[in-house]
Amino acid sequence: MRIDILTVLPELLKSPLDHSIVKRAREKGLAEIHLHNLRDFTDDNYRTVDDYAFGGGAGMVMKPEPIARAIEKLQEERNYDEVIYTTPDGTPYKQPMANRLSTCQNLMILCGHYKGVDQRIRDHFITLEISIGDYVLSGGELAAAIIADSVIRLLPGVISDETSALTDSFQDGLLAPPVYTRPAEFRGWKVPEVLLSGHAARIEEWRLQKAIERTRKRRPGLLREK
Ligand code: ADE
Repeated sequence: MRIDILTVLPELLKSPLDHSIVKRAREKGLAEIHLHNLRDFTDDNYRTVDDYAFGGGAGMVMKPEPIARAIEKLQEERNYDEVIYTTPDGTPYKQPMANRLSTCQNLMILCGHYKGVDQRIRDHFITLEISIGDYVLSGGELAAAIIADSVIRLLPGVISDETSALTDSFQDGLLAPPVYTRPAEFRGWKVPEVLLSGHAARIEEWRLQKAIERTRKRRPGLLREK
């Protein structure tokens, strides 16, 4: 998979996408991430990417020209499955969308800033608008990092334990059950007996029960969605 990210703050994205599982996926050649600075697509000496909003009001708007130029240059080089825009008024991001995006070859992500991008870019270039939650970030970069991370960890071969991504919270519509490691007793607090029993079927059953219990308590809406 290849992900191209268009941003006014490439530095903000470098580190989050250069650690742990995502770093390993890149090193193994399973994922490529390319950061593009939108200022490199401006044509004035000040490298201007924003301007005042028509009709007035507080806050700047991202100018259409540098964005259109950047998107079109990339689209000349390959076909994109989706051209994504990160914005608080987009479609709420959930695991099924991450699963779907992980089957794509080429993704482009445009990071919003200020009051957002000129609506004409959204109308004519963007194919998918994503919100990562009902709160407002300073920019779309952290949202883009979250999308890239959640998609890349699903690519075949990225997580060595093949079943690991499948047992994540949300993959079966449930929150994940509690987990424990050694020691079996810590400050007098014991690990549930069943987990030490070596009885695979009983352990599976216990985990499912705990996952259902936890989901019912913390996120009852997830059970209703099923
Ligand atoms: N940009 C600012 N806030 C955002 C959010 N909640 N989701 C996606 N992009 C954003």
